[in-house]
Amino acid sequence: MMESPFNILRTLHDEHFATMALLEKLETTLSGARTAPANDDPDMNRLLGDLEAILDEEISHHYAFEEQHLFPLFAEFGDMGITQMLKGEHEIIRPLARELSERARTGRKDGFNPESWEIFREKGLELVEREVFHIQKEEMGFLPALDQMIDEETDQTLSMAYQDIKNAS
Ligand SMILES: [Fe+2]
Ligand SMILES: [Fe+2]
Repeated sequence: MMESPFNILRTLHDEHFATMALLEKLETTLSGARTAPANDDPDMNRLLGDLEAILDEEISHHYAFEEQHLFPLFAEFGDMGITQMLKGEHEIIRPLARELSERARTGRKDGFNPESWEIFREKGLELVEREVFHIQKEEMGFLPALDQMIDEETDQTLSMAYQDIKNAS
């Protein structure tokens, strides 16, 4: 999406971008590693830690904000079908992300065995596919449309609401 004058849209865009970058890294790693990594592999453990952080952030803050504030706003102005679709995708991705974050945590702590690694790979690649597609939709249609709907005052209100969500947890 193009550079928006609104803080809240730039924040969401930056978060999408950071998530995409990590998911790309995850996809490359998972595609290349068919066997379980060593317990003390520092690159893998860093990736797992980053993954946990971004999944926990993406689930608890970003999705919550979109659902509580942006979807209702968008539905007022625009097409309800779009927000229902995006919300439906959240509902599929959220439990998947939660499970993956849990598996990443366990893997970092205790390592993977061939079976747990295979499950992690499979779920990880599924998450990459679903979340990348979801972000692309929001970047191409949703955020640009919001850019046309809001004004400076709404931007401020939304930015504060998002800050509250982040501070609350
Ligand atoms: Fe979303
Ligand atoms: Fe989003």
